[in-house]
Amino acid sequence: MSKHHTSDFLVLGSGIAGLTFALKAATLGSVTIITKKERAESNTNYAQGGIAAVMEETDTTEGHLHDTLIAGAGLCNRNVVEVLVNEGPERIHELIAMGTEFTRKADGSLDLGREGGHSRNRIVHAADLTGREVERALLQAVANNPRITLLEHFTAVELITEHHIPGARTMGVRHRNCYGVYALNNRSGNIEMFLARRILLATGGCGQVYLHTTNPAIATADGYAMAYRAGAVLANMEFVQFHPTSLYAPERKGGTFLITEAVRGHGGILRTRSGERFMPRYDHRAELAPRDIVARAIDAELKRSGDPSVLLDVTHIPFDDFQQHFPNIEAECARLGIDVRTMPIPVVPAAHYQCGGVRTDLWGRTSINRLYACGEVSCTGVHGANRLASNSLLEALVFSHRAFNKIQEEWCGGEMAYPEIARWNDRGMFNIEEWIVVEHDRREIQQIMWDLVGIVRSNARLVRAARRARLIRDEIEEYFRRTKITVELIELRNIAETALLIVEAALTRKESRGLHFTTDYPETDDPLWLRDTLIEKAVL
Ligand code: FAD
Ligand code: SIN
Repeated sequence: MSKHHTSDFLVLGSGIAGLTFALKAATLGSVTIITKKERAESNTNYAQGGIAAVMEETDTTEGHLHDTLIAGAGLCNRNVVEVLVNEGPERIHELIAMGTEFTRKADGSLDLGREGGHSRNRIVHAADLTGREVERALLQAVANNPRITLLEHFTAVELITEHHIPGARTMGVRHRNCYGVYALNNRSGNIEMFLARRILLATGGCGQVYLHTTNPAIATADGYAMAYRAGAVLANMEFVQFHPTSLYAPERKGGTFLITEAVRGHGGILRTRSGERFMPRYDHRAELAPRDIVARAIDAELKRSGDPSVLLDVTHIPFDDFQQHFPNIEAECARLGIDVRTMPIPVVPAAHYQCGGVRTDLWGRTSINRLYACGEVSCTGVHGANRLASNSLLEALVFSHRAFNKIQEEWCGGEMAYPEIARWNDRGMFNIEEWIVVEHDRREIQQIMWDLVGIVRSNARLVRAARRARLIRDEIEEYFRRTKITVELIELRNIAETALLIVEAALTRKESRGLHFTTDYPETDDPLWLRDTLIEKAVL
């Protein structure tokens, strides 16, 4: 163990949830943010469509509430959604006051976009690069705050709980408190210890569990797996959202590229490769049905036709108008030889968002004292069985503010006395030949999840996935315990753990609801399943 760091607050992750919380927490004390790559690298940075909120007098919070509950297929926690829609507008005004520049109309009012599942235009956006603008403004504010230290290239490995206090395990102490994390200094290769009075898990999502995802490389499920291993309660992990329209461009380097739902909100039409508009056959809301319905419809059309993609037709939208609203998408399409004036955009669904996560209350508190979770890694109860478009950034803003509020209420200054924490046990040597074999596991898990735990599931597929994922998870865990740790190994271990959590949750839910559709139980079963799927590791 080379170094110890202490601060009042420790924030894991530099996306919208972590940065928002850090800026508020800094009014109470010192804050350390650790993030595993460059500071802007996050799902937040790639968000396109925008942030949903009631920002016009003609809109109502009841409307936003209603749309969220409908998309969530009966499983949203109504109280939590009420908090989201009521407090959301104030959080957006805070972002604006901080210098975030959202797109405005000629009269200076916000230009509100439309996305699937929304009954009207209510998406605040910065053209089709909303996340980049929000991240820029938040990072700028963090840089200007002398009480915040932001450390790049540190990867959290394990949450520190009672089990890292020498002797506590044998005394039978349950995990009741979190004290910090062990984190890998990616550059030195050493494990360093970060201790704090309050710890915020804001590590984002798990798209990299799947072979095809809209998420960037950082989204390797670290937070879910760390919290699970520490004994926190997780909920609803089976509800993985597949975005209906990621660009189909096998030759494109650098991962999958999203075609924002706002394009459909702006009039984009989904067609088969033979030109048929198919969405009206599936739902009266057609292209603007909630995401689970559109993704399943595309999946069905692809299976029926055998085609590798469907088409998103925008050729009828005036080019200037399209380019003004979606400059990034237009440029990316042009770069790939797709002239949106004359050619439809080939699209396929891809894993996009985890609606479940570390279970929290209305103030971001997890089942472990001192440990809070906000943003995509959390499960507040807002999204139920399917997230409404552009409610994710809003959720991160609202609940990181609330986590801060609760902490502020209870805050008393002074020194924190930490228990004696065990040193990280550095294991063995890194063996490159052995690693090459283990590394293949990553691709295998992603393929298993894509083939067997995707948009349409079945018992047989899930059982097969569980068997294989468990074997791989156990092998990786065994390797992890006897080798020197690298970022790749940390990520692989977390991907494997979280894949298994998703499969097990999917096997548990014996009905179809929202994003979880299984051919063995094709109906929704309210009497038995109108409840969350909870997972908790027995840590003793
Ligand atoms: P992130 O923004 O993902 O940040 C997580 C942070 O944690 C990163 O800094 C990461 O490096 C760090 N991290 C992860 N693991 C570790 C570790 N072990 N140690 C240290 N640091 C770690 N939602 C909307 O509401 N509207 C949209 O328009 C929208 N568009 C989207 C478009 C795309 C392409 C994608 C991928 C998502 C989109 N979403 C959108 C979803 C939304 O962007 C995310 O859910 C949201 O940004 C999550 O924010 P976060 O702060 O929780 O996590
Ligand atoms: C999109 O722009 O289509 C993504 C919006 C979201 O994930 O909410």
